[in-house]
Amino acid sequence: MAKILNDYPSVALKPEDLNGRIDFTQIFGRKNPVHIEVGSGKAAFLLNQAKAQPDVNFLGIEWARKYYRYSVDRIGRWGLKNVRIIRTDAVDFIINFVPDNSVECFHIYFPDPWPKKTPPQKTLHCPRKSRAYPPLPCPRRHY
Ligand SMILES: C[S@@+](CC[C@H](N)C(=O)[O-])C[C@H]1O[C@@H](n2cnc3c(N)ncnc32)[C@H](O)[C@@H]1O
Repeated sequence: MAKILNDYPSVALKPEDLNGRIDFTQIFGRKNPVHIEVGSGKAAFLLNQAKAQPDVNFLGIEWARKYYRYSVDRIGRWGLKNVRIIRTDAVDFIINFVPDNSVECFHIYFPDPWPKKTPPQKTLHCPRKSRAYPPLPCPRRHY
C-alpha cells in the first residue's frame, strides 16, 4: 500500500511565490545562521542537523518531486521550526534568489551522479553548475 504523504505548507517554499532575493529572516521568523543543503534527498541530514542545531536555520533544495514530497511530510511530522525545503533546481535558485553573504554553510553530500549513465547536465558538478558555487561569498564556505 502506498504511503500517505501529508502536505505542510509552512515547511515548503514555493518557487512561484519568489520575487527576487529571498529574505531568510522573514522566511524563518528569526535572524540566525542559515545552512543550505543542495540536493537534500529524503531530508535525513536536514532533519538530524536541524534537531542537533536548533540555533541554525536549514534550507534543503531538492528537485525530484518524490523526494521533495517525502521530505515535506517528514519535516512536518518532526515538527521542527528551523527547516524549510524548496523544490527547484539548486543552481538556478542559488544564483537568482539567494543573497550574497546570507548563507553560512553549503552542504553537498553524495551529489549525483554515481559514475554511470547519468548525463552530465543532470549532475551537481557539471561545468555550468560548479560555476554557481565559488562566487557565492559566505563567511565560512564549506562545500
Ligand atoms: C544521491 S542523492 C543524495 C541525497 C542527500 N544529500 C543524502 O546525502 O542523502 C542526490 C540528490 O540531489 C538531487 N539533485 C541533483 N541535482 C540537483 C539540482 N540541480 N537541484 C536540486 N536537487 C538536485 C537529486 O534529486 C537527489 O535527491
